[in-house]
Amino acid sequence: MEQNQEYETISMPRIGDAAPEFKAVTTQGDINFPADYKGSWVILFSHPADFTPVCTSEFMTFASMEDKFNEANCKLVGLSIDGLYSHIAWLRTIKEKIEYKGMKNIEVTFPLIEDISMNVAKKYGMIQPNEDTTKAVRAVFFIDPKGIIRTMIYYPLSLGRNFDELYRVIIALQAADEFDVATPADWRPGDDVIVGPAGSCGTAQDRMQDDDIDCKDWFFCTKKLDKDMVLNRILKNKLVAEV
Ligand code: BEZ
Repeated sequence: MEQNQEYETISMPRIGDAAPEFKAVTTQGDINFPADYKGSWVILFSHPADFTPVCTSEFMTFASMEDKFNEANCKLVGLSIDGLYSHIAWLRTIKEKIEYKGMKNIEVTFPLIEDISMNVAKKYGMIQPNEDTTKAVRAVFFIDPKGIIRTMIYYPLSLGRNFDELYRVIIALQAADEFDVATPADWRPGDDVIVGPAGSCGTAQDRMQDDDIDCKDWFFCTKKLDKDMVLNRILKNKLVAEV
């Protein structure tokens, strides 16, 4: 792939940064981001363009999982580098004509940002010129109720996202906050969690002797965290379901 070195330098947001602010027109009216979402988790995600097949499959999947994300106090906000009328036409076409993997008649009720100027996409590092100069890559920002970016995942244009993973991330981030733990590789609710690193020799020693904590060595300690307890705390509006 030929490299484009002529592009302007744009700073990328980082994990731990306040989510860059913007006002935008969306398919659900105007939004003031992230202020309008204070108190909720938000997934802000970008798509290369309207009326493209991978994006359509992703939009349908996200829309069909929206209730599940909302139950975890997480709202969805999409963006693609197209105008409002194109967005409306695309979403109408999806609802009226597209059937994919058993999903049909899918109505997208979360906002899709109009960003033909690429102002928002540039603020979030969604334009990555050596991938494409005018289409956003598939970026996903997980933003917490205080407006802080907690996780970012970027995919290229050709790769559709794994939505089970996006859901796992939102649950794992909240579990880590709620229970002051870390989550190991491939963690899902019900799996053991990691107890944070010991900050002193005394803590390291105490850990080794705590019956509720399983230490393979002083630095590698796990403990049980009941699945229902995790889900009841996170999915506040719902009876516990399979995750
Ligand atoms: C798609 O969503 O299908 C797509 C968009 C841009 C480039 C390649 C695929």
